[in-house]
Amino acid sequence: MNVLVKDKIVASEAGVVSIADRGYQFGDGIYEVIRVLNGKLFTEKEHMDRFYSSAEKMELVIPYTREKLTGLIYDLIKANNVIDGHVYFQLTRGNQDPRNHAFNDDAEGIITGQTKAYPRDMKMLEEGVTAITADDIRWLRCDIKTLNLIGNCMAKTKAQRAGAEEAILHRDGTVTECSSSSLLIVKDGVVKTHPLTNLILPGITRIVIMEAIAAANIPVVEEAFSLEELFAADEVMLASTGHDATPIIAIDGKQVGDGKRGPVTAEIQRYYDLRIE
Ligand code: PDD
Repeated sequence: MNVLVKDKIVASEAGVVSIADRGYQFGDGIYEVIRVLNGKLFTEKEHMDRFYSSAEKMELVIPYTREKLTGLIYDLIKANNVIDGHVYFQLTRGNQDPRNHAFNDDAEGIITGQTKAYPRDMKMLEEGVTAITADDIRWLRCDIKTLNLIGNCMAKTKAQRAGAEEAILHRDGTVTECSSSSLLIVKDGVVKTHPLTNLILPGITRIVIMEAIAAANIPVVEEAFSLEELFAADEVMLASTGHDATPIIAIDGKQVGDGKRGPVTAEIQRYYDLRIE
Protein backbone atom coordinates (compact mmCIF):
# COMPACT_ATOMS: atom_id res chain seq x y z
CA MET A 1 0.00 0.00 0.00
CA ASN A 2 1.26 3.45 -0.93
CA VAL A 3 0.45 6.80 0.65
CA LEU A 4 0.89 10.41 -0.31
CA VAL A 5 3.19 12.56 1.85
CA LYS A 6 3.68 16.09 0.58
CA ASP A 7 4.23 15.64 -3.16
CA LYS A 8 5.66 12.10 -2.99
CA ILE A 9 4.00 8.70 -3.24
CA VAL A 10 5.78 6.40 -0.77
CA ALA A 11 5.25 2.98 0.85
CA SER A 12 2.92 3.41 3.87
CA GLU A 13 5.68 2.45 6.37
CA ALA A 14 7.73 5.35 5.03
CA GLY A 15 4.84 7.81 5.35
CA VAL A 16 5.72 9.63 8.56
CA VAL A 17 5.08 13.17 9.79
CA SER A 18 6.44 15.05 12.80
CA ILE A 19 4.83 14.99 16.27
CA ALA A 20 5.06 18.79 16.03
CA ASP A 21 2.45 18.69 13.22
CA ARG A 22 -0.48 20.98 14.13
CA GLY A 23 -2.91 18.44 12.69
CA TYR A 24 -1.70 15.95 15.30
CA GLN A 25 -1.66 18.43 18.20
CA PHE A 26 -4.69 20.63 17.47
CA GLY A 27 -6.66 18.93 14.70
CA ASP A 28 -5.57 22.01 12.76
CA GLY A 29 -6.26 20.97 9.20
CA ILE A 30 -8.86 20.04 6.62
CA TYR A 31 -9.66 16.96 4.57
CA GLU A 32 -11.69 15.48 1.74
CA VAL A 33 -12.93 11.99 0.92
CA ILE A 34 -13.60 11.48 -2.78
CA ARG A 35 -15.29 8.36 -4.15
CA VAL A 36 -13.36 6.52 -6.83
CA LEU A 37 -15.65 4.78 -9.33
CA ASN A 38 -14.31 3.04 -12.42
CA GLY A 39 -10.89 4.51 -11.62
CA LYS A 40 -12.20 8.09 -11.77
CA LEU A 41 -12.77 10.68 -9.06
CA PHE A 42 -16.56 11.02 -8.76
CA THR A 43 -17.65 14.69 -8.44
CA GLU A 44 -14.00 15.74 -8.46
CA LYS A 45 -14.72 19.42 -9.14
CA GLU A 46 -17.20 19.76 -6.28
CA HIS A 47 -14.81 18.10 -3.80
CA MET A 48 -11.85 20.22 -4.87
CA ASP A 49 -14.02 23.35 -4.66
CA ARG A 50 -14.99 22.45 -1.09
CA PHE A 51 -11.35 21.70 -0.17
CA TYR A 52 -10.33 25.15 -1.35
CA SER A 53 -13.28 26.74 0.41
CA SER A 54 -12.43 24.95 3.72
CA ALA A 55 -8.82 26.15 3.33
CA GLU A 56 -9.94 29.73 2.87
CA LYS A 57 -12.24 29.61 5.90
CA MET A 58 -9.32 28.30 8.03
CA GLU A 59 -6.70 30.66 6.54
CA LEU A 60 -4.79 27.61 5.32
CA VAL A 61 -2.52 27.83 2.29
CA ILE A 62 -2.67 24.84 -0.05
CA PRO A 63 0.97 24.35 -1.06
CA TYR A 64 0.27 23.14 -4.63
CA THR A 65 -1.78 24.31 -7.57
CA ARG A 66 -5.13 22.64 -8.03
CA GLU A 67 -3.80 20.82 -11.13
CA LYS A 68 -0.78 19.49 -9.26
CA LEU A 69 -2.84 18.34 -6.28
CA THR A 70 -5.40 16.61 -8.50
CA GLY A 71 -2.51 14.93 -10.37
CA LEU A 72 -0.99 13.68 -7.10
CA ILE A 73 -4.33 12.23 -6.02
CA TYR A 74 -4.67 10.39 -9.34
CA ASP A 75 -1.06 9.15 -9.00
CA LEU A 76 -1.95 7.72 -5.58
CA ILE A 77 -5.06 5.96 -6.87
CA LYS A 78 -3.08 4.46 -9.72
CA ALA A 79 -0.17 3.45 -7.46
CA ASN A 80 -2.66 1.47 -5.33
CA ASN A 81 -4.69 0.18 -8.32
CA VAL A 82 -7.95 1.52 -6.90
CA ILE A 83 -10.80 1.02 -9.35
CA ASP A 84 -13.68 1.38 -6.86
CA GLY A 85 -13.17 2.83 -3.41
CA HIS A 86 -12.17 6.22 -2.10
CA VAL A 87 -9.23 8.51 -1.62
CA TYR A 88 -8.75 10.42 1.62
CA PHE A 89 -6.44 13.41 1.72
CA GLN A 90 -5.77 16.07 4.28
CA LEU A 91 -3.86 19.27 4.72
CA THR A 92 -2.47 20.36 8.08
CA ARG A 93 -0.98 23.70 8.97
CA GLY A 94 2.40 21.97 9.26
CA ASN A 95 4.95 21.81 12.05
CA GLN A 96 5.12 24.17 15.00
CA ASP A 97 7.75 23.68 17.66
CA PRO A 98 7.41 24.76 20.43
CA ARG A 99 3.65 24.13 20.56
CA ASN A 100 1.60 27.32 20.44
CA HIS A 101 -2.16 27.69 19.98
CA ALA A 102 -1.85 30.69 17.67
CA PHE A 103 -1.41 29.89 13.97
CA ASN A 104 2.13 29.74 12.61
CA ASP A 105 1.78 31.89 9.52
CA ASP A 106 5.07 30.87 7.91
CA ALA A 107 4.97 27.05 8.20
CA GLU A 108 4.55 24.86 5.14
CA GLY A 109 1.22 23.05 5.05
CA ILE A 110 1.52 19.28 4.82
CA ILE A 111 -0.63 17.18 2.51
CA THR A 112 -1.03 13.46 3.15
CA GLY A 113 -3.31 10.93 1.47
CA GLN A 114 -4.47 7.32 1.63
CA THR A 115 -6.81 5.11 -0.38
CA LYS A 116 -9.31 2.37 0.40
CA ALA A 117 -10.72 -0.04 -2.17
CA TYR A 118 -14.34 -1.24 -1.86
CA PRO A 119 -17.27 -1.85 -4.21
CA ARG A 120 -20.61 -0.03 -4.04
CA ASP A 121 -22.76 -1.83 -1.47
CA MET A 122 -25.88 -2.53 -3.53
CA LYS A 123 -27.46 -4.57 -0.72
CA MET A 124 -27.14 -1.65 1.70
CA LEU A 125 -28.56 0.76 -0.89
CA GLU A 126 -31.61 -1.45 -1.27
CA GLU A 127 -32.16 -2.74 2.25
CA GLY A 128 -31.07 0.35 4.16
CA VAL A 129 -29.47 0.84 7.56
CA THR A 130 -30.55 1.80 11.07
CA ALA A 131 -29.72 4.92 13.06
CA ILE A 132 -29.94 6.38 16.53
CA THR A 133 -30.45 10.01 17.53
CA ALA A 134 -27.78 11.90 19.47
CA ASP A 135 -27.10 15.41 20.74
CA ASP A 136 -25.16 17.53 18.27
CA ILE A 137 -22.35 18.67 20.57
CA ARG A 138 -20.09 19.92 17.76
CA TRP A 139 -18.76 23.45 17.40
CA LEU A 140 -20.47 26.19 15.37
CA ARG A 141 -18.44 25.92 12.15
CA CYS A 142 -19.62 22.52 10.92
CA ASP A 143 -19.51 23.97 7.39
CA ILE A 144 -15.72 23.56 7.43
CA LYS A 145 -14.42 20.06 6.67
CA THR A 146 -11.89 20.20 9.49
CA LEU A 147 -9.90 17.34 11.01
CA ASN A 148 -11.44 18.25 14.38
CA LEU A 149 -14.07 15.50 14.44
CA ILE A 150 -14.32 14.38 18.05
CA GLY A 151 -18.01 15.33 18.38
CA ASN A 152 -18.71 13.30 15.24
CA CYS A 153 -16.54 10.40 16.46
CA MET A 154 -18.31 10.23 19.83
CA ALA A 155 -21.74 10.17 18.16
CA LYS A 156 -20.70 7.52 15.60
CA THR A 157 -19.23 5.35 18.35
CA LYS A 158 -22.49 5.60 20.31
CA ALA A 159 -24.39 4.51 17.16
CA GLN A 160 -22.12 1.60 16.38
CA ARG A 161 -22.12 0.40 20.00
CA ALA A 162 -25.94 0.38 19.74
CA GLY A 163 -25.67 -1.77 16.58
CA ALA A 164 -26.68 1.12 14.27
CA GLU A 165 -24.89 2.51 11.24
CA GLU A 166 -25.33 6.22 11.92
CA ALA A 167 -26.13 8.84 14.53
CA ILE A 168 -28.67 11.51 13.53
CA LEU A 169 -27.64 14.70 15.30
CA HIS A 170 -29.95 17.34 16.75
CA ARG A 171 -29.50 20.61 18.59
CA ASP A 172 -32.24 20.89 21.23
CA GLY A 173 -34.63 18.85 19.09
CA THR A 174 -33.75 20.47 15.74
CA VAL A 175 -32.18 17.93 13.40
CA THR A 176 -28.96 19.01 11.65
CA GLU A 177 -27.25 16.08 9.88
CA CYS A 178 -25.56 12.78 10.76
CA SER A 179 -22.15 12.10 12.30
CA SER A 180 -20.57 11.50 8.88
CA SER A 181 -23.38 12.09 6.39
CA SER A 182 -26.09 14.51 5.34
CA LEU A 183 -29.72 13.73 6.15
CA LEU A 184 -32.94 14.11 4.15
CA ILE A 185 -36.52 13.19 5.01
CA VAL A 186 -39.58 12.72 2.81
CA LYS A 187 -43.13 13.47 3.95
CA ASP A 188 -46.13 13.29 1.59
CA GLY A 189 -43.79 13.36 -1.41
CA VAL A 190 -41.88 16.47 -0.28
CA VAL A 191 -38.16 16.23 0.52
CA LYS A 192 -36.86 18.25 3.46
CA THR A 193 -33.27 18.86 4.48
CA HIS A 194 -31.41 21.33 6.68
CA PRO A 195 -30.36 24.51 4.81
CA LEU A 196 -26.67 25.14 4.13
CA THR A 197 -25.68 27.08 7.24
CA ASN A 198 -22.74 26.94 9.65
CA LEU A 199 -24.47 24.01 11.39
CA ILE A 200 -23.95 21.40 8.65
CA LEU A 201 -21.30 20.33 6.17
CA PRO A 202 -22.17 21.26 2.58
CA GLY A 203 -22.25 17.64 1.41
CA ILE A 204 -21.25 16.78 -2.14
CA THR A 205 -23.64 13.83 -2.24
CA ARG A 206 -26.32 16.32 -1.16
CA ILE A 207 -25.54 18.34 -4.31
CA VAL A 208 -25.99 15.25 -6.51
CA ILE A 209 -29.24 14.45 -4.70
CA MET A 210 -30.50 18.01 -5.27
CA GLU A 211 -29.75 17.54 -8.99
CA ALA A 212 -31.71 14.28 -8.93
CA ILE A 213 -34.61 15.98 -7.18
CA ALA A 214 -34.65 18.80 -9.76
CA ALA A 215 -34.42 16.34 -12.67
CA ALA A 216 -37.32 14.30 -11.31
CA ASN A 217 -39.42 17.36 -10.39
CA ILE A 218 -39.68 16.28 -6.76
CA PRO A 219 -40.69 19.12 -4.42
CA VAL A 220 -37.98 20.04 -1.92
CA VAL A 221 -37.62 22.50 0.96
CA GLU A 222 -34.32 23.40 2.58
CA GLU A 223 -35.62 24.01 6.06
CA ALA A 224 -34.65 22.82 9.53
CA PHE A 225 -37.01 20.21 10.98
CA SER A 226 -37.68 18.73 14.40
CA LEU A 227 -37.19 15.27 15.86
CA GLU A 228 -40.99 14.91 15.76
CA GLU A 229 -40.96 15.46 11.97
CA LEU A 230 -38.08 13.01 11.64
CA PHE A 231 -40.06 10.29 13.41
CA ALA A 232 -43.20 11.09 11.38
CA ALA A 233 -41.36 10.94 8.01
CA ASP A 234 -42.37 8.46 5.30
CA GLU A 235 -38.75 8.06 4.16
CA VAL A 236 -35.43 9.04 5.69
CA MET A 237 -32.11 8.84 3.87
CA LEU A 238 -28.52 9.55 4.70
CA ALA A 239 -26.16 10.83 2.05
CA SER A 240 -22.38 10.65 1.88
CA THR A 241 -19.45 9.81 -0.32
CA GLY A 242 -19.26 6.17 0.80
CA HIS A 243 -23.01 5.60 1.10
CA ASP A 244 -24.59 7.51 -1.83
CA ALA A 245 -28.26 7.91 -0.83
CA THR A 246 -28.92 5.13 1.68
CA PRO A 247 -32.36 4.51 3.20
CA ILE A 248 -32.63 4.67 6.99
CA ILE A 249 -35.26 2.08 7.88
CA ALA A 250 -35.37 2.44 11.68
CA ILE A 251 -34.39 5.17 14.16
CA ASP A 252 -33.94 4.50 17.88
CA GLY A 253 -35.56 1.11 17.24
CA LYS A 254 -38.69 2.64 15.67
CA GLN A 255 -39.52 1.72 12.07
CA VAL A 256 -39.44 4.48 9.43
CA GLY A 257 -42.50 4.34 7.11
CA ASP A 258 -43.04 0.72 6.12
CA GLY A 259 -39.44 -0.17 7.00
CA LYS A 260 -38.40 -0.47 3.35
CA ARG A 261 -36.66 1.78 0.83
CA GLY A 262 -39.24 4.31 -0.30
CA PRO A 263 -40.07 5.45 -3.86
CA VAL A 264 -38.37 8.87 -3.59
CA THR A 265 -35.14 7.31 -2.30
CA ALA A 266 -35.27 4.75 -5.13
CA GLU A 267 -35.77 7.52 -7.70
CA ILE A 268 -32.76 9.44 -6.35
CA GLN A 269 -30.67 6.28 -6.46
CA ARG A 270 -31.62 5.73 -10.12
CA TYR A 271 -30.35 9.23 -10.98
CA TYR A 272 -27.18 8.58 -8.97
CA ASP A 273 -26.43 5.48 -11.03
CA LEU A 274 -26.80 7.51 -14.24
CA ARG A 275 -24.24 10.07 -13.00
CA ILE A 276 -21.53 7.41 -12.67
CA GLU A 277 -19.36 7.26 -15.78
N1 PDD B 1 -18.09 12.47 5.68
N2 PDD B 1 -21.82 15.62 6.99
C1 PDD B 1 -20.72 15.24 7.66
C2 PDD B 1 -20.58 15.65 9.08
C3 PDD B 1 -19.74 14.46 7.02
O1 PDD B 1 -18.65 14.09 7.68
C4 PDD B 1 -19.94 14.07 5.67
C5 PDD B 1 -18.93 13.27 4.91
C6 PDD B 1 -21.12 14.48 5.02
C7 PDD B 1 -21.41 14.13 3.58
O2 PDD B 1 -20.53 14.79 2.72
P1 PDD B 1 -20.14 14.21 1.29
O3 PDD B 1 -21.42 13.90 0.58
O4 PDD B 1 -19.40 15.29 0.68
O5 PDD B 1 -19.32 12.96 1.54
C8 PDD B 1 -22.03 15.27 5.71
C9 PDD B 1 -16.95 11.84 5.04
C10 PDD B 1 -17.33 10.80 4.06
C11 PDD B 1 -15.99 11.36 6.11
O6 PDD B 1 -15.78 12.12 7.03
O7 PDD B 1 -15.42 10.28 5.98
